[in-house]
Amino acid sequence: GKDGYRHYMEKELHEHPLVIGQTLQRMIDPATRKVTLPDLPFDLATVPRAVITACGSAFYAGMVGRYWLEEIARLPVDIDVASEMRYRNPPLTPGSLGLLISQSGETADTLAALRSLRADAIHILSVLNVEHSTMARESDVILGTVAGPEISVASTKAFTAQLTILACLTIATARARGKLDPLGEEELVAALMDLPSRAAEVFNQGAAIRQMASIVAEARDVLYLGRGSMFPVAMEGALKLKEISYIHAEAYAAGEMKHGPISLIDRTVPIVASVPSTPLFDKTLSNLQEAKARGGRLLVFTDTEGAERVSAIAEQVVVLPRVHDFVAPILQTIPVQMLAYEVAVLKGTDVDQPRNLAKSVTVE
Ligand code: F6R
Repeated sequence: GKDGYRHYMEKELHEHPLVIGQTLQRMIDPATRKVTLPDLPFDLATVPRAVITACGSAFYAGMVGRYWLEEIARLPVDIDVASEMRYRNPPLTPGSLGLLISQSGETADTLAALRSLRADAIHILSVLNVEHSTMARESDVILGTVAGPEISVASTKAFTAQLTILACLTIATARARGKLDPLGEEELVAALMDLPSRAAEVFNQGAAIRQMASIVAEARDVLYLGRGSMFPVAMEGALKLKEISYIHAEAYAAGEMKHGPISLIDRTVPIVASVPSTPLFDKTLSNLQEAKARGGRLLVFTDTEGAERVSAIAEQVVVLPRVHDFVAPILQTIPVQMLAYEVAVLKGTDVDQPRNLAKSVTVE
């Protein structure tokens, strides 16, 4: 049942801290505090490239994984949505790491992409929530997100669990490739272990998020902005809003705004920005100043450090706990999903069963 929550989505949102913790327990050895992977039938030290593919939210998790694997493990990554990947016939390097991501393990396009990668001699590592799914049977190895059943059609906790797995995989890959020394690994593992408690603190911001929702619920169009690993977080926020509130939303890499979407900005198009105080903070801040100068209403998710610097231009700020830059996209996902949820509640839509959507898309 819903355990007293209004919808399964609300219940599942509240499971973020638990699910991140359970997934970490499976991936990190408590004695050594090192990431431990199951035996792999290939060597992470020598895979020439990674190719990531998935659909919808799982694809956005893959995009965050791309930023991490490239920046931290120095592994070149190709990524595309599965519906494109399966027909693109790209020139792949045999022996590459194929990273497939799916909650259900049954998504038709992702499964077809898996089969076509396999046929091209790519090693298949799938990040799956349903561990007895079709994709599980057809993969060389799976990493299970320990999210439990997800009932709400809109994915929430499975997404942060996918990010948690991808973060651990990045650490193991970086170590294998000689890009992360023991101290570096200790620092990143500590950042991950800190997450369940910090994630629980996000729910203290419920009132501020509901206030933000009352502004968004009046809009016809909403722009989501983020840079670096916050760009896929913005995409996740925009998708979730469209999906359950039926309000049109677009996500842009903040630096792309001036190449087109800035012409949309006026009082009627709220801008939701995910801007933790990472090294990209100042760059995003200047994009927000440009939007403000054109009459944009800024609704900002930041942290205790960023709040002081953005409060002068923002109409509303939701202040989140400060976490290590590495795990910021995981933490910042929670409030954008909560915002979409609260907007949908205000709009009175069928939150758990949005129109035209099915939980698992098993036809092309
Ligand atoms: C978004 C959502 C969908 C799924 C997508 C992939 O809230 O739920 O975009 O993420 O259909 O589904 P799986 O992960 O089962 O392959």
